[in-house]
Amino acid sequence: MMGLDPVPAYPESPDRGLEALLGCLCCPGCAAPLRHERTRLACAAGHSFDIARQGYVNLVAGQTRHRGDTAGMVAARDRFLSRHHYRPLIDTVTVLAAHHDPDVPGTVVDLAGGTGRYLAAVLDRLPHRHGVCLEASTAALRRAARAHPRAGAIGADVWRRWPLVAESASIVLNVFAPRNRSEIRRVLAPGGILITATPTADHLRELIDPLGMTTVDPNKSERLAADLRGFAPLDAQLVTYRMGLDHEDARTLAGMGPTAHHVSEDELDRRVAGLPELTGVTFAVEVAVYRASSG
Ligand SMILES: C[S@@+](CC[C@H](N)C(=O)[O-])C[C@H]1O[C@@H](n2cnc3c(N)ncnc32)[C@H](O)[C@@H]1O
Ligand SMILES: [Zn+2]
Repeated sequence: MMGLDPVPAYPESPDRGLEALLGCLCCPGCAAPLRHERTRLACAAGHSFDIARQGYVNLVAGQTRHRGDTAGMVAARDRFLSRHHYRPLIDTVTVLAAHHDPDVPGTVVDLAGGTGRYLAAVLDRLPHRHGVCLEASTAALRRAARAHPRAGAIGADVWRRWPLVAESASIVLNVFAPRNRSEIRRVLAPGGILITATPTADHLRELIDPLGMTTVDPNKSERLAADLRGFAPLDAQLVTYRMGLDHEDARTLAGMGPTAHHVSEDELDRRVAGLPELTGVTFAVEVAVYRASSG
């Protein structure tokens, strides 16, 4: 059985990484700059947003129907990522970010960044950068607020205008997550880069039928290309290997995705019990780097 990575032992930073981000955050109501007032962020027009006890700030104006992952899915994702099975992906994203780190000022934005694991790894490699995890899920934001001393966690809806100043980002990370092309373009500084990680059709294929997991859309790469019109490809790496997953791993992996919505807990337990003690499972994810092209 593989060991667990300890939860990153970062001391609680008193401002939870928010102070350094003020220059890139803006009010979701009126797009004005935000200032830090004790326990909230506020704009000059009087819109204000409480800093949650756990350190994140929800910068969504009004209601959103996107609530992101449930607490159960987030806990499963956190647990799975703390094992070593996805380490090569985290390393590839980090190495590509360091290699292509553009010579422009700006934050690292982790789009729908979940618990902020990838962001934390990238910031460790880029000591001159600060980062922001944009997320809809409260459970994920609570964890992301502690992910790294140079990162803040901001509640936002990928599909709406982000509470970020135009051209304030040097790198946008988008790992297994929804993307919004026009907002990515708006927030990237000229010369800034986008790094995507997208599963291929082979990803986790040995578990899809036995566990009733959702399959990757076979047109995904075409969809990705259409999604990213206006971005010039700079680099790409297929990260592929075999993982040996025991029952607990397989159960956790299924629990962190949408399978949890259409297969009951009992049924999932039954299906996992029917797997061999150790299942060889394909990991196959493409990591790509793009630069926003002009026009
Ligand atoms: C498959 S998870 C990936 C999380 C993270 N990038 C990782 O790989 O660990 C997708 C994430 O997108 C978030 N999400 C889904 N819809 C969203 C939205 N409309 N706005 C912001 N985040 C959203 C979910 O809460 C979830 O954390
Ligand atoms: Zn405002």
